[in-house]
Amino acid sequence: MDGNGRWAKARGLSRTLGHKEGVKRVVEMLREAKKLGIKIVTVFAFSSENWSRSGKEVNKIFSYMRIFLDLYKQELLKQGVRLNMIGRRDRIDEGSMKKLQEIEVATANNEALLFNVALDYGGRWDIVQAAKKIAKDYKTKKISTDGINEAVFSNYLSLRDLPDPDLMIRTSGEERVSNFLIWNLAYSELYFCPKHWPDFDKKELAKAIDVYSKRKRRFGKV
Ligand code: FPP
Repeated sequence: MDGNGRWAKARGLSRTLGHKEGVKRVVEMLREAKKLGIKIVTVFAFSSENWSRSGKEVNKIFSYMRIFLDLYKQELLKQGVRLNMIGRRDRIDEGSMKKLQEIEVATANNEALLFNVALDYGGRWDIVQAAKKIAKDYKTKKISTDGINEAVFSNYLSLRDLPDPDLMIRTSGEERVSNFLIWNLAYSELYFCPKHWPDFDKKELAKAIDVYSKRKRRFGKV
């Protein structure tokens, strides 16, 4: 969801107002995704690297996230959306974690749409934490060297046994994966949109899906 800051700056607003507008797009995008029959949406809301931003901006980002959770809890429940946070849970402030966990529990049985929120997430972190868990299971003999393969390894990652993303959309003209789901995106189609996230509306989503539907996915085959 790139470009909140630049969107705001271009309008003479503070960066944090860009995040406020960005949150609104998340809500609209979830409604639209459900209408289109999309079953899983994962947003990169806060990366491991985003801690290097000013304390004021970091606080605002988490405060908008808490507002989002308060305002849309009922809608998530009504729409059958299940919220699942992926990322490090030990550095996020207690209030935000409490709200996230409460909604994870409240929406745990919802099945219409799975909404993964990547917070304090980094693809390399994910691979390292998986390796550590495997090392622990090896020590307690829950797993053997021969028992480790790609499918088993995947199950130790944050998205566990979920299917790999079909499509990754990155906004604001940046054309990088930037430490997002680096394992899971191995065969995903990448779509880069020049618009900033607050300008990414349902028309833009339809465009991205149209481009995706014309791609030939070969998964390494001929
Ligand atoms: C990218 O724009 C956006 C972020 C780093 C934070 C966005 C996350 C939130 C507002 C929290 C909302 C979370 C949920 C689950 C609704 P940028 O700041 O990198 O913009 P720039 O590239 O223009 O500087």
